[in-house]
Amino acid sequence: MATDHNGVTVWFTGLSGAGKSTIAERLLAVLQDQGIKSELLDGDIVRTNLSKGLGFSKEDRDTNIRRIGFVSDLLTRNGVVSIVSAISPYREVRDEVREQIGDFIEVHVHASLDELVKRDVKGLYEKALKGEIPNFTGVSDPYEEPLNPEVLVNTEEEEIEESLGKVLAALEERDIIPSGASRELAGVAT
Ligand code: ADX
Repeated sequence: MATDHNGVTVWFTGLSGAGKSTIAERLLAVLQDQGIKSELLDGDIVRTNLSKGLGFSKEDRDTNIRRIGFVSDLLTRNGVVSIVSAISPYREVRDEVREQIGDFIEVHVHASLDELVKRDVKGLYEKALKGEIPNFTGVSDPYEEPLNPEVLVNTEEEEIEESLGKVLAALEERDIIPSGASRELAGVAT
């Protein structure tokens, strides 16, 4: 079992509804199934405890990301695969936590705004477009795309297995999962 590995943070960034949490949860399940110590810090959940009371101004989002980054750093240092799923729209603070943590895989989960408005999983885009939710990322608030992410997935064009496979391949490169295991673990048909 591949339990004797170094920690790493796998940081999923992207617009609301792009698929960050879905891929992150599948990744967590695969890693736990392999006996690899892993945890998931999900923005929606963190905002109910660690970041409770924070809003969506740039200042509050940056605080949210710094708090998540702080916890992820502790986990990473202790040999855990720390999976983060948060919009994290600002490049500067993403790069700040990257520097702090060191062992860092940035995954940009991309889908076009048109597609996200069509999916509107939580019904938030409709409200945001009507002006009922101010400062909504991608509609009335910025999203600064990563310039050079370790992994780029496009959930508009890829099945989840393909996206998950790309993330697992990055973990394979870092010897966190065995060499050659990523496709099978992702459930990609061979
Ligand atoms: S972040 O910008 O600080 O990284 P985070 O990922 O924690 O955001 O939370 C995003 C979630 O909050 C969204 O998926 C959505 O459900 C909800 N939300 C509520 N208001 C907003 C808003 N103005 N912009 C973006 N997401 C919002």
